[in-house]
Amino acid sequence: MKKVLVSGIQSSGQLHFGNYFGAIRQNVELGNSDDYESYIFIADYHSLTTLTNPDERRASTSDIACAYLACGLDTSKATLFRQSDVPECTELAWVLGTVTPVPMLNLAHAYKDKVSDSEKALKDVNAGLFTYPVLMAADILLYGATVVPVGRDQEQHIEIARELAGKYNRTYAKGEDGFSFPMPKALIQKEVATVPGIDGQKMSKSKGNTIPLFASDDELKKRVMAIVTDSAAPADKKDADSNIIYQIHSLFLEEAGQAALRTKFEEASDERPYGYKQAKEELLETIINFISTFRTKYEYYQSHPDEVNTILSGGKEKALKKARETMAEIRQQVGLTDSTK
Ligand code: AQP
Repeated sequence: MKKVLVSGIQSSGQLHFGNYFGAIRQNVELGNSDDYESYIFIADYHSLTTLTNPDERRASTSDIACAYLACGLDTSKATLFRQSDVPECTELAWVLGTVTPVPMLNLAHAYKDKVSDSEKALKDVNAGLFTYPVLMAADILLYGATVVPVGRDQEQHIEIARELAGKYNRTYAKGEDGFSFPMPKALIQKEVATVPGIDGQKMSKSKGNTIPLFASDDELKKRVMAIVTDSAAPADKKDADSNIIYQIHSLFLEEAGQAALRTKFEEASDERPYGYKQAKEELLETIINFISTFRTKYEYYQSHPDEVNTILSGGKEKALKKARETMAEIRQQVGLTDSTK
């Protein structure tokens, strides 16, 4: 039997290389393989927690779909859809919320970071941000996922999804024959666990520290040239592992390329100087070359919204079918009215 894979990206702004290396690349690879039944969605409900501009949400939703298609997702194998096309996830989130201990949500890092970043009084932090992991658990469990490819930032959320699956199963499934949630597991690729932004913190849409995936060459240049560096001179030896330029550049390179780049940083000298300006220019060239292979297809889908919508509608039908099957089981098991009648 195929393993079920679920993965989502919030439509909360411009896609960036953290999303690409942390999620899109492996979702495309696994989604296109015959080993997985994949549900890849655009998390527009989730984006409501941080973004209040409807036009930006619609634009971001469409960009994510175009990006997946441009990066080669085969939608005859993987199901690509909008989260809000399957409102059953909000119903399951409600059910799961009733087995969620409040302290578990209080401890979620992403929530704590957002609250401390915002410098807001707690009264200005919306409850959606607090219950975000419950909706995420619902997205995962609704499709019976056992594999959830994510960056390190989402690992704790997958742990919460596991706990809620267990809590639900113990409360309602009680080991009898019949419906119970399988246990989901995070799939984290070590080398891209956390992609740093141009300021060295986690690259994040909401932090303004991203290198956007499909920006113009000029915009890419601005971002790359703004990468924070120390005061080391070109002839000074530099520690590659703690250097943001190296950390980002190495993501694009195979082992031999990484080793050659490391040597430039670590063995810089008067004879072989390697300054940050040169390092940034080389990184920029790598990024522009890399993205050029996807850009034509991305622009094609951007200018063919009907084609993209048809693909998303097909995804909606497949995702809805599975979601309704799960919700029918759950409604029956917890004692709500039978949704199939
Ligand atoms: N910097 C990152 N390194 C590795 N993986 C990352 N991901 C995001 N940033 C990095 C992975 O991308 C997927 C989708 O993430 P998301 O956009 O839904 O939410 P996020 O992780 O909260 O991303 P942002 O950019 O930080 O969004 P905002 O600022 O709106 O909260 C996930 O698999 C994530 O691991």
